[in-house]
Amino acid sequence: MKYFFYNEHELYCEDVMLRELVEEFGTPLYVYSKNQILENYRDVATAGGSPYTVCYALKANSNLAILKLLAAEGAGADVVSAGEIHLALKAGFPPEKIVFAGVGKREDEIEYALSKSVGSFNVESMQELQLLSLVALRLKTTARVSLRINPDIDAESHPYISTGMKHNKFGIDTSHAIEAFKAAVELPALEIVGIHAHIGSQITKVEPFVETAKFIVDLINKLREENISLSHIDMGGGFGVQYMNALSHEALPVEQTANGAALSVKDFLGAVLPLFAQTGCSIWIEPGRSIVADAGALLTSVLYLKDNSTRKFVIVDAGMNDLLRPSLYNAFHQIVPLKIETYEQEKVDVVGPVCETGDFLARDRMMGKLKRGAGLAVLTAGAYGFVTTSNYNARPRPAEVLVNGDKVRVIRERETFEHLE
Ligand code: LLP
Repeated sequence: MKYFFYNEHELYCEDVMLRELVEEFGTPLYVYSKNQILENYRDVATAGGSPYTVCYALKANSNLAILKLLAAEGAGADVVSAGEIHLALKAGFPPEKIVFAGVGKREDEIEYALSKSVGSFNVESMQELQLLSLVALRLKTTARVSLRINPDIDAESHPYISTGMKHNKFGIDTSHAIEAFKAAVELPALEIVGIHAHIGSQITKVEPFVETAKFIVDLINKLREENISLSHIDMGGGFGVQYMNALSHEALPVEQTANGAALSVKDFLGAVLPLFAQTGCSIWIEPGRSIVADAGALLTSVLYLKDNSTRKFVIVDAGMNDLLRPSLYNAFHQIVPLKIETYEQEKVDVVGPVCETGDFLARDRMMGKLKRGAGLAVLTAGAYGFVTTSNYNARPRPAEVLVNGDKVRVIRERETFEHLE
């Protein structure tokens, strides 16, 4: 995280003081750094030594302004719904660089994708494959297909965002992989081009990726023995980012992390790309979080402070409807003051206004002592933040702004009561 930083005691995004943004736009407010997004994308696109295609996973953040930035950089798109296809095309991603994934594609979504000539389908079951073949036949077209194989590898991430183990709903079971490919090549109107494997998200170790890469290479070799020759490997996304100690300042507590320093995308790709070299296949990756997470923060204001006998609560105006990750995954986001006013710290729960005990942004968290009205930034909120907002408790969704140097652009207006009707 380079573009969010303290200048003396004031928190900035690029050249903009965040307290001024709060004065102008109110809270809760999502703020993104344009230059951080671009730098992250360029890092991912150039991290590996050999060529590969980066398909940005729209699910991480699908604000159109952000999508346009990435499309203009030459990225491809990983999409999981007709809605995401629509956004990707509107943002200018070339159809041939759009990969349509997802375990539950509806027939109308398949039709829509084919009518828009998306580059390829990552297919997750035999029934989906049969339906895709029928629809492509009906539309007199050919669908390019990779089969998503579930390699039964533990990504060692949160169970809710681990996808590559055999008890997960994703992909075709590894024990059925060869027969699935054999059946697939027999179906009309399909061109079977590759293997897809995505084992999870927020992966912080290289080993699960290496294991998956070895699994893929082994499967490709076995398929070649069966005269099924693939030209395409899509190894998914999942590169973890640093949530703890994202920002440091002498007034901020040092957060205790089990994982040590976060690995970079270069570390991940450096470990797997050489393994793929012998296959001669083109390589695609689908990162989401690593491109947008640290480029975004959610700004919120302290409404009230209260003590009960065992806990101190900081009640803020952003709730689980504005940022779901802590409630859903017990996810950690560093929360820092927009202005550092004290070096005195205390342990608090930072909670939202929603009528749920699970509505919290942080629990048992050491923070500088706060006062009513203080502004806070929930950091590393650019991925899976706004996209998972809801209107629960009839709360309008927050606005989103994009900062570029000293310029600020509203890229989504705050919702009004009309949106709730
Ligand atoms: N490809 C596929 C097939 C995926 O399912 C995902 C994420 C990605 C790529 C992108 O993964 P990334 O590079 O962003 O890790 N809401 C959760 C994360 C869910 C991830 C879902 N799939 C969270 O807030 O942590």
